[in-house]
Amino acid sequence: MRAGTLQLQTLPPLSLYVHLPWCLKKCPYCDFNSHEMRAAELPEQSYLNALMADLEAALPLIWGRSVQTVFIGGGTPSLFSPQAIDQLIAGIRARVRLAPNAEITLEANPGTFEKDRFKAFRAAGVTRLSVGVQSFNDDFLKTLGRVHNRAQALDALAEAAAVFDTFNLDLMYALPGQTLDMLRTDVDTALALAPQHLSIYHLTIEPNTFFAKFPPASVDDDLAADMLDLITDMTAAAGMQRYEVSAYAKPGHACQHNLNYWQFGDYLGIGAGAHSKLSFAHRVVRQVRLRDPARYMTQALAGQALAQDDDVKRRELPFEFMLNALRLADGFDLSMFAERTGMPLSAVQAALAQAQAQGLLLRDGEHVRPSARGFDFLNDLQALFLPATRQESSQS
Ligand SMILES: C[S@@+](CC[C@H](N)C(=O)[O-])C[C@H]1O[C@@H](n2cnc3c(N)ncnc32)[C@H](O)[C@@H]1O
Ligand code: SF4
Repeated sequence: MRAGTLQLQTLPPLSLYVHLPWCLKKCPYCDFNSHEMRAAELPEQSYLNALMADLEAALPLIWGRSVQTVFIGGGTPSLFSPQAIDQLIAGIRARVRLAPNAEITLEANPGTFEKDRFKAFRAAGVTRLSVGVQSFNDDFLKTLGRVHNRAQALDALAEAAAVFDTFNLDLMYALPGQTLDMLRTDVDTALALAPQHLSIYHLTIEPNTFFAKFPPASVDDDLAADMLDLITDMTAAAGMQRYEVSAYAKPGHACQHNLNYWQFGDYLGIGAGAHSKLSFAHRVVRQVRLRDPARYMTQALAGQALAQDDDVKRRELPFEFMLNALRLADGFDLSMFAERTGMPLSAVQAALAQAQAQGLLLRDGEHVRPSARGFDFLNDLQALFLPATRQESSQS
C-alpha cells in the first residue's frame, strides 16, 4: 500500500454495486452506461464470468469486511433471466461475506417482464425491486422513448407489490409540456399503488444524449418549483418522508444502499463503467471500470477491468463528503465527517459557519442539516465546501 495523509480510525460500511449495461432501446435523455441489445442476444454467461473475475480481482481491497447492501443496476437488469440473477447472487455470496438480512435491490423495467419473473427474482435472493416507470401517461412515455406503456407499468407494479415486501417506483417530472394537473395524475396513480419508496427526478438534459442535440420543450423554473412542492405535499399526505432530495419513503423503507452513498460510505462497483469508492487507513480511493461492455468482458477475465484508479485528493474530500451528506434532509453528525474523511473538523469549520450565517444550514450541537432554504439552493450550499481554487472558478 502506498503511504497516505489521512487518518481514518474506522472504515465505513461497505456496499456492492453491480452494473448490467444493456437495454432494449436507448432512451433519449439517458447518459448512463447503457447499450442497446436484443434480449435473445444478451451474452449472459460471458458477462457473469467477467463479473466474477472482476470481483475476485477486487477482493484484496475489501478483505475482512462484510457487505451490507447489494444493488444490481443498469441498464436494465430485469433483461437478465432469473437463472442468471440467481447465479450472480450465489456467486457474490460465495466470494464476499454478506451481512445477514442484506438489502439486495434489482432494477426492473416494465415491458421486459413475463409473468412469474419477479417471483423468480425474489427466489434468487432479491429483497427489493426498483421499477423504472417515469410516467403513467402514454404520450409522455412515447416522448421519453420508453418501451413500455401505462398498462404494462401498472401490471409490473401490481406484480412487484404482490411479490416484494418493499419496492420502489421511479418517476420523472418537469416533462416537456407537463402541467401541474398532469403531474398530479401521475403522482396520484403512483401513490394508489402504495409503494414503500418513491424516487422522483426532475428531467435533466444531459450532455451527449439525443435530447441534448434535439432539446424538447422545457418547463420553466417557477412551474418546476411548484411541481416539487406538489410532490412533497402529496407524498407527505400519503405518509412518506422526503428523506433525500429526490427520494421519498414510508418509515423504515429508506433505501439502505443509497443511504450508504449519501453518508459517504464505501462501495465496490463491478461491471462495465461501474464506480467504486473505497477507504483505507490513510487514503480514500476512487476507481472506474472500463465502460465498453465488450472490452470490459475481455479485460475483466484478464484481471484488468480498471480504467481509472486514483486517490481522492485531501483538498477535494470535504466537498466530496458534503456533496453527498447535504442531500439528506435529516443531515448528519459532524463526527461522521472526521470518521469518513480522516480529516479534522477544522477543515470545514469556516464553511459551516458561513453556511449557517447565510441561513442554508441548521446546527444543533454536533448535528447539522440543510435548512429548507439550503435544500432549495443545494448547489449554493455545497459550493461553500469547494476547495478555494474551484470556488473561484464556480463563481466566475
Ligand atoms: C439508471 S436509470 C435505470 C433504471 C431503468 N433502466 C429505467 O430506466 O427504468 C435510474 C433512473 O434514473 C432516472 N433518470 C435517468 N436519466 C435521467 C434524466 N436525464 N433526468 C432525470 N432522471 C433520469 C430515471 O427515473 C431512471 O428510472
Ligand atoms: S431504460 Fe433506463 S438505463 Fe436504459 S436507456 Fe432508458 S433510462 Fe437509460
